[in-house]
Amino acid sequence: MRVGVVREVHPGERRVAASPESVRKLEKLGFEVMIEAGAGVAAGFVDSAYEEAGATMSDDLAEVWKADVVLKVRPPQAFPDVDTYRAHAGKHEVDLLAEGAAVISFLWPAQNPELLERLKAKKASAFAMDMVPRITRAQKMDALSSMANIAGYRAVVEAANNFGRFFTGQITAAGKVPPAKVLVIGAGVAGLAAIGAARGLGAIVRAFDTRPAVKEQVESMGAEFLELDFEEDGDGGGGYAKVMSQAFIDAEMALFRQQCDEVDIIITTALIPGKKAPLLVTKDMVERLAPGSVVVDLAAEQGGNCEVTEHGEVIVHDGVKVVGYSDFPSRMATQSSTLYANNLVHLLHDLGGAEGWDVNMDDEVIRGAIATHDGEVTYPPPKPDVPQTPHAKHASQSPKAMPQTREESAHGVDRQQDSAGLARSLVALVLAATLTGLGYFAPEGFLSHLTVFVLACFVGWQVIWNVTPALHTPLMSVTNAISGIIIVGGMLHQHAGHETSLAGILGAVAILIAMINISGGFLVTQRMLRMFRK
Ligand code: NAI
Repeated sequence: MRVGVVREVHPGERRVAASPESVRKLEKLGFEVMIEAGAGVAAGFVDSAYEEAGATMSDDLAEVWKADVVLKVRPPQAFPDVDTYRAHAGKHEVDLLAEGAAVISFLWPAQNPELLERLKAKKASAFAMDMVPRITRAQKMDALSSMANIAGYRAVVEAANNFGRFFTGQITAAGKVPPAKVLVIGAGVAGLAAIGAARGLGAIVRAFDTRPAVKEQVESMGAEFLELDFEEDGDGGGGYAKVMSQAFIDAEMALFRQQCDEVDIIITTALIPGKKAPLLVTKDMVERLAPGSVVVDLAAEQGGNCEVTEHGEVIVHDGVKVVGYSDFPSRMATQSSTLYANNLVHLLHDLGGAEGWDVNMDDEVIRGAIATHDGEVTYPPPKPDVPQTPHAKHASQSPKAMPQTREESAHGVDRQQDSAGLARSLVALVLAATLTGLGYFAPEGFLSHLTVFVLACFVGWQVIWNVTPALHTPLMSVTNAISGIIIVGGMLHQHAGHETSLAGILGAVAILIAMINISGGFLVTQRMLRMFRK
């Protein structure tokens, strides 16, 4: 089975859908890989690197398009009217696709119905990387997040490039330099990446989002979370934002207007899936910023969060530079191509690789991503039967596939709680019966110890099961303290000269297990803490 990787025809696009590393992985999956000559040059991957990885290079793009699976970054489009594509003038990329072949790229199916019709006519299996459901299992294929992460980072690099000062504060012989103050509006994937990059450069960072749930994430990245004295949750389900009331937007804008007197850089990333980006930074706010300040509008393509943004341009408004690029990932083409190519490899792996190739329409991820198949337009995917994890971008984009309602999810929780309650009652019943039975045969001391032991297990189980995962690290410290008490108990038995008695042996075993627990606890805690260190 052959995978073809074509050069992106979209003017200015530098990314490519394969890296030498991904070629090796594709071969391990049993695919033969053919790449159009020069496809990776703009992303820093020369032809020889692909060849070394085992790919065949071809000068004939029509030959590459004949592959069983074609990998691309941008949605297939009409060939641009430039010399390079003179031979294909007036044609569409889909015209070159073999009938019944698969094509995997960003597709934006809701915005491109005409493209879907073309793919349908070719009986193509077209997979939209932008439609991969945002469920835990599919994170490795989540190209939207890979690209948003890069866009957030690059936004800070562009801001630094257009800003005339250091980000970090310095005290030098020549004078004191205050740190730059950065405001990040919207703390989704891109916003958090921007916070991380700006903090890394030493700036003071503040952030705002309509979803209060992100407060902890913002703070854990070392930024200050700005809050509004306003009761309205911006969570629209699936981890995404909803359109806020005008009163909220006004209050939020008043907050930003105030911030304009203090901050040097504003990075806006506020988006609502399927909607025009909210207007949050007005002309008067830009004019309120000190000359030399920078605004980077990551929402430029969706209409912009800033009133004066010009899509694709850097303009100067009243001494403030406003960056309106929409190709941030393409500006870091090596990184974005590497991550995107890996996302593709994971999807091809889930499709069974070359040997086990199977477009399984019952697979939630495949069903979510596939837009045309077997001569049918399969977009939008049907509403999922099972309650989703709280991240399903496709669900929020397509009207037919809305995530579960609050009511539905509340019922789900009720059912879970009911069955958990039943299980607990059953366990309690069995234990009570066992203890009563033992009461007839066992010595008196044994029974009281056993009762304390069983109760301790029950209480411990109840306490631990109800702790939210975010608190597992402090929980580990508590269990370490308990293990410490166990060790003291075990040592007392040893000290009392019972080494060879049953109690002594059990004491020694308790010491051993508690020590394993303590050292394991320390190891895990250290590993988790290391994740938060720079
Ligand atoms: P996005 O690009 O659609 O939106 C960016 C941010 O803008 C969001 O955080 C949104 O709340 C914010 N926003 C919207 N209107 C605003 C306003 N008026 N003022 C201020 N902020 C506003 O979202 P993105 O970054 O693609 O993902 C959002 C969330 O989805 C993530 O934070 C995460 O919780 C979840 N997610 C889960 C994934 C998974 O589990 N596989 C993968 C990716 C995201």
